Amino acid sequence: MLPYVIHVLVIVLLVPQNAIAQLSLPSSPWLPPNASSGAVPSTTDRSPNPQWITLLGDLIYFYEEQRSGTLPSTNRVSWRNSSAVDDGEDVGLDLSGGYYDAGDYIKATFPLAFTAMSICWGANDFGQGYDLANQTAYLDDMIRWTMDWLMKAHPSNNTLYVQVADGNLDDAYWGGDLGIPTPRPSYQINDTAPGTDAAAGTAAAFSACSALYANRALGGTSSNTTNTTTSPFSAPASLQNSTYATLLLSHAEALHEFATNATAGLQTYQTSVPEAGTAYASSSYGDELAISALMLAWASNSSDRYEEAVGYWQDYGLSGQDQVFNWDSKGPGFAVLATQLSLVEPGLVGNLTGWQSEAESYFDTIVNGTGRSSQTDGGLLWYPGDSDEVSLNPALNAAMLLARYAPIASTDDKKTSYLNFANQQLNYVLGKNPMNAPYIVGTNPNAPANPHSAMASGGNDISNIDTDPETEAYVLYGAVVGGPDPSDKFWDIRSDWVETEVALDYNAPMLTLAAWHVLNDSSDPFYTSLAAGSYSRPKGSPCDAALPCPIPPLSWKGKVGMGVAIGVVGLVIVGLTLYLLIAGRRNKVG
Ligand SMILES: *[C@@H]1O[C@H](CO)[C@@H](O)[C@H](O)[C@H]1NC(C)=O
Ligand SMILES: *[C@@H]1O[C@H](CO)[C@@H](O)[C@H](O)[C@H]1NC(C)=O
Ligand SMILES: *[C@@H]1O[C@H](CO)[C@@H](O)[C@H](O)[C@H]1NC(C)=O
Ligand SMILES: *[C@@H]1O[C@H](CO)[C@@H](O)[C@H](O)[C@H]1NC(C)=O
Ligand SMILES: *[C@@H]1O[C@H](CO)[C@@H](O)[C@H](O)[C@H]1NC(C)=O
Ligand SMILES: *[C@@H]1O[C@H](CO)[C@@H](O)[C@H](O)[C@H]1NC(C)=O
Ligand SMILES: *[C@@H]1O[C@H](CO)[C@@H](O)[C@H](O)[C@H]1NC(C)=O
Repeated sequence: MLPYVIHVLVIVLLVPQNAIAQLSLPSSPWLPPNASSGAVPSTTDRSPNPQWITLLGDLIYFYEEQRSGTLPSTNRVSWRNSSAVDDGEDVGLDLSGGYYDAGDYIKATFPLAFTAMSICWGANDFGQGYDLANQTAYLDDMIRWTMDWLMKAHPSNNTLYVQVADGNLDDAYWGGDLGIPTPRPSYQINDTAPGTDAAAGTAAAFSACSALYANRALGGTSSNTTNTTTSPFSAPASLQNSTYATLLLSHAEALHEFATNATAGLQTYQTSVPEAGTAYASSSYGDELAISALMLAWASNSSDRYEEAVGYWQDYGLSGQDQVFNWDSKGPGFAVLATQLSLVEPGLVGNLTGWQSEAESYFDTIVNGTGRSSQTDGGLLWYPGDSDEVSLNPALNAAMLLARYAPIASTDDKKTSYLNFANQQLNYVLGKNPMNAPYIVGTNPNAPANPHSAMASGGNDISNIDTDPETEAYVLYGAVVGGPDPSDKFWDIRSDWVETEVALDYNAPMLTLAAWHVLNDSSDPFYTSLAAGSYSRPKGSPCDAALPCPIPPLSWKGKVGMGVAIGVVGLVIVGLTLYLLIAGRRNKVG
């Protein structure tokens, strides 16, 4: 671990001025093909499969569509403009850049950091998928656009900007990127108003991405005097740069120190910044502390950090939990990474069988349906509560962790059942579902046409989101949407943000799953078998937090019942009035 003084120096000296992608982007840019090409099955199996390559390209392209700040000359999204270039002005800093979080225009650090952690981890263990797809330069560009902004948001050791723009002002705006409302305030956590989860969660992202740039591979053979172990993962995507890795690690160390040693102690970040609690309130910080320390152990090969991580795992009761893996809940990733590390760095992380049994008790609960989750009739993994406002995300994150863990499971039966479950969930998302719809925009003619995205819609009338304009102005290629309801129905309605919103973290697990399939699947993704017209909007209307259930019209029986009820109530009122009048007279008389 570097001494504290060196962190400060490194951060001050190395904050990037005008960072650019390290790898040169192709002179003739890769662009998403029209959705119709996703309905043309390959005639033969090919490895790598061109349809999976296209999907991976689309998924990365989504992040370019979400960019904020001054767009570079290499920008591929012709319909996007530079925007919010004055972010940070209110605090005398340059906080321009980064990404818009979802269908709106806030920039939110906590879910962005989770997204980066997830993508960098996957670009490490399934990294050759990016190379085979010729997407590594775009991946590098995407990760740097993220990390360079997170570095700006971390201008000194104990300051981290956790949100830019006021959610309420932003929610009241529906329109393009040229009219984004101002002011856009910048919200920070600091030593006296800390946010343990946001600081640790961001540290975890810096560590995961540092490990990627430093080539801390999770695959390969390692041996010590007593043992030789083999870890089956691919080499990382080829974007290594030790200067950048060191820079990222210095931010990881500093943010982890801030998370654990702030003068005002440990607390959730929305305690300090209530404005950030509206969209992304964190439910606890123990999971972030644990994953941050473990990611740091990986990135810096520090056994002290590993011991620290195990300490949090125990102190915060993370063992045996039945949670989803998402921006708010990182615990389920812990035992998976610990198992990977115990194979490739046995001297750093011992206890392979201990971590395997932790991971497997979690996964067995999912695949055997013995815990909190169940499956819809169509087969989508469903967690009550977590799935209600974004149904595909818990399922995709589970599939991503299962796919990663399967090859290192303790028995062949578990390997098979985990892989099958992961692919079943992935196939559901890619169109093997009762709607015959793949839930990624622009991949196939049956994919959603109405993602909830102010930017892509081309409309600016907030009271007519669904119909103005009739057809969305721009195709938001590569965006994973929220997903169907508990009965597998999907209406594709723009204002139904529960089903159709897009977000940075929705895409994250799909990148890793697609890179895995580029690497290991010569046949097409499911949707190539879906011809145009396979999806049609279901009857009725959605019934969720965005579009509450319509009040059902009354049947004739209902109407008669209602009439009788009104009559009875009326008679009672008349009766009471008469009684009171008569009683009143009596009293007067009496
Ligand atoms: C490595 O990354 C640093 C920091 O971003 C950059 O300045 C440098 O050009 C990169 N090196 C190479 C060889 O691309
Ligand atoms: C970008 O600007 C052009 C006009 O130059 C406009 O037509 C387009 O809609 C803008 N894009 C967005 C996402 O608002
Ligand atoms: C620390 O953060 C809190 C919460 O965002 C803010 O109110 C306060 O002004 C900040 N302190 C400093 C010294 O900037
Ligand atoms: C990481 O640390 C372990 C234990 O100290 C050591 O055995 C191993 O060689 C180190 N790995 C690297 C890549 O330095
Ligand atoms: C060697 O690796 C095994 C796991 O493969 C581990 O249990 C053991 O502690 C390691 N020995 C040393 C000396 O690091
Ligand atoms: C190994 O992991 C198991 C399961 O988490 C735990 O009970 C045990 O204490 C661990 N052993 C060591 C030596 O860390
Ligand atoms: C790749 O696929 C084969 C079967 O097609 C399977 O045996 C293997 O475990 C898979 N590898 C990974 C990393 O999933």
